[in-house]
Amino acid sequence: MKRNLTVKGMAALALALAAPVAMGEVSVEEYRAMLADKDANPGFLVIDQGEVLYKTKRGPKNASLEKCDFGLGPGKLKGAYAQLPRYFKDTKRVQDIESRLLTCTVTLQGFDEAEIKKKTFADQRYNETNTDIEMLAAYVAYQSNGMRINPPLKHPAEKEARKVGEAYFWNRHGPMDFSCATCHAEDGKRVRLQNLVNVYNKKDIQATMSTWPTYRVSHGVARNMQHRMWDCHWQMRTPDIEFGSPATTALISFLTHQAKGGTYDLPGMKR
Ligand code: HEC
Repeated sequence: MKRNLTVKGMAALALALAAPVAMGEVSVEEYRAMLADKDANPGFLVIDQGEVLYKTKRGPKNASLEKCDFGLGPGKLKGAYAQLPRYFKDTKRVQDIESRLLTCTVTLQGFDEAEIKKKTFADQRYNETNTDIEMLAAYVAYQSNGMRINPPLKHPAEKEARKVGEAYFWNRHGPMDFSCATCHAEDGKRVRLQNLVNVYNKKDIQATMSTWPTYRVSHGVARNMQHRMWDCHWQMRTPDIEFGSPATTALISFLTHQAKGGTYDLPGMKR
């Protein structure tokens, strides 16, 4: 991938990379300006790393991921993410980008699913770099940049996932008796300085979903929607939600359908 970094872009990139340790020294305004500089997004570095990983023969079967089918056929990446989550015949379930990547690393490369699930996200507290699955998701998703969010809703399992996702969204549970809706179903809600997306506000949810996967400045790494689901469960003080589980996929199906028609603008860059 070729991108020309401007001097301004490089300065902002340096700032962005330093951000996890030096946030306090950057005014909120400068920070916003920095976020707006598309070329300075360190997410591009993660996408490039993901591309190398995707094409490298790895694992017990010494295979690359180039034959992975994300719904449009083996190896067809262009526009595939824009049509996820979707039903897959081989696994007989609805999958999002990360759970599909998990399937391919297991079936094509022979990796152990339980092993991968032990370490799906980089831990920003220890300055870890992105995990393989985070880099791969960033790369595969980027191949749908500029395309409309258009997940299919034909197969009964796709309809069910969307419906179950919405029901879960409203279900209050856990020690705080929160549901997702407690924080994300009205305009103008916020926690501290963070505005909370209202998933029933079309523009709001489109702007949100079209910018995932995203570079998270405060974490110093790229993040994907599975991480956001894990993070918001943490906000709700529930036990960790399982990576790629039907529950996370149902939630992501619901959120993605709410955002249908938005245009992917990747990689995103968020707080
Ligand atoms: C206690 C409040 C709270 C609850 C409950 C909660 N979240 Fe969140 N959510 C947040 C906060 C805080 C953020 C981060 C906002 C930021 O950093 O700008 C967030 C971010 C998000 C985002 C990304 C928004 C963006 O701008 O990219 C999504 C999507 C999301 N939540 C979905 C959910 C779902 C689904 C649930 C239920 C499983 C849930 N949230 C439960 C507080 C909550």
